[in-house]
Amino acid sequence: MRILLFTGKGGVGKSTVSAGTAAMSAARGLRTLVLSTDAAHSLGDAFGVGQALGSEPVAVTEHLYVQHVDAQRRFEESWVEVQGYLLSVLDTIGVDRIAAEELTIIPGAEEVFALLELRRMAVSGEWDTIVVDCAPTAETLRLLALPEALGWYLERILPVQRKMVKALKPVLTKAAGVPMPGDSVFDALVRLHDELAEVRALLSGPEASVRIVLTPERVVLAEARRSWTTLSLYGYRVDGVVANRIFPAGGSDDWRAGWVKAQDDVLGDVGASFEGLPVWRSFYRPTEPVGVEDLREVAEAAYAWSGSIDPLAVPETAAPFRTETTGESTTVRLALPGLAQWVERDQVQLGRNGDELAITVGAYRRLLTLPAALARMRVSGARVEGGELRVTFSRQTTNTESEGS
Ligand SMILES: Nc1ncnc2c1ncn2[C@@H]1O[C@H](COP(=O)(O)OP(=O)(O)OP(=O)(O)O)[C@@H](O)[C@H]1O
Ligand SMILES: [Mg+2]
Repeated sequence: MRILLFTGKGGVGKSTVSAGTAAMSAARGLRTLVLSTDAAHSLGDAFGVGQALGSEPVAVTEHLYVQHVDAQRRFEESWVEVQGYLLSVLDTIGVDRIAAEELTIIPGAEEVFALLELRRMAVSGEWDTIVVDCAPTAETLRLLALPEALGWYLERILPVQRKMVKALKPVLTKAAGVPMPGDSVFDALVRLHDELAEVRALLSGPEASVRIVLTPERVVLAEARRSWTTLSLYGYRVDGVVANRIFPAGGSDDWRAGWVKAQDDVLGDVGASFEGLPVWRSFYRPTEPVGVEDLREVAEAAYAWSGSIDPLAVPETAAPFRTETTGESTTVRLALPGLAQWVERDQVQLGRNGDELAITVGAYRRLLTLPAALARMRVSGARVEGGELRVTFSRQTTNTESEGS
């Protein structure tokens, strides 16, 4: 099953290109689902079927289904146990019910539940292609960093909490009348943890990739470059860029000639910035592309730009995270493409804490849990080179290093 995610700055054409790619996939006879994680669902509008979409996949045409994730419903299903517990605690300390309900709604919950829905669809076995129309870049990055980050907390908090609850239960329940979480609360958290781990495995696996949609404008390009680096930092593969809303050359007026020239300059930079990735071009149409046929045409025309690449095939992009062992040392290689273009080297920071590596790039940080074999070794060198962060680990006992920095 192929999973394709589309992200990019607001308004660049993410929904249009996602819907078009999905229509293309369906036209090949592949069972295709396009779903949006963006609260401002506009897929229904793009397909011309309105906003009346249910939270279950709705058929648009043969093999093509569209779904707007109902985060609220998924929230209720998965969180009800935990919320029930939180409500009982708040009730004990005298918080009124309505205020308490507000308090138990976690910021960012919508995004988590969009991911859980994506997982549910992916494991259902009903789809050959799942296309995800993501929210604008910043939210997508937050969304894609979530499974690992939440997993990190849950792995550390759950065992401690369980122990504490066991020890304190008799004391606290008597003393303050504060209810203690029952096993069902923990079970709900464990389930959440496992499902998020699955989401993470699915989205960072070889059959999933992210495409960045942009328009040929400097500000848009700058953001797109940063998102390439950041997506790689979090372990996602970016397999191409769609440059959308390109003004076709021609005509005789200066206004148009000015835009064509300006966009052309930026397009040159797009090619240079995303070296090694296909940059598909999509022209500004005279009307808004609405409906399956229009959308499919937009996608077909764009992908035809790089005719040798099948836009639905599994990409050959290497995994962003690899380890390589030579003799006594092992090197962790984390792709950070495009990095030099927007951050100075000293903005890449590395920290080690036991079995964890904290990698900070600009404003983004990833806590990477090291494989057991590496956790026992010490870091003997780190450098940024060739679009990668390379961290070398050596056995604790050796004094000589083959690589240092
Ligand atoms: N190549 C194109 N030619 C003409 N109109 C286009 C093209 N691409 C997108 N549009 C139009 O531009 C508008 C914005 O596109 P779209 O909704 O796909 O962007 P988006 O990135 O999903 O936006 P948002 O960030 O709000 O979700 C829509 O009205 C769409 O029909
Ligand atoms: Mg959109």
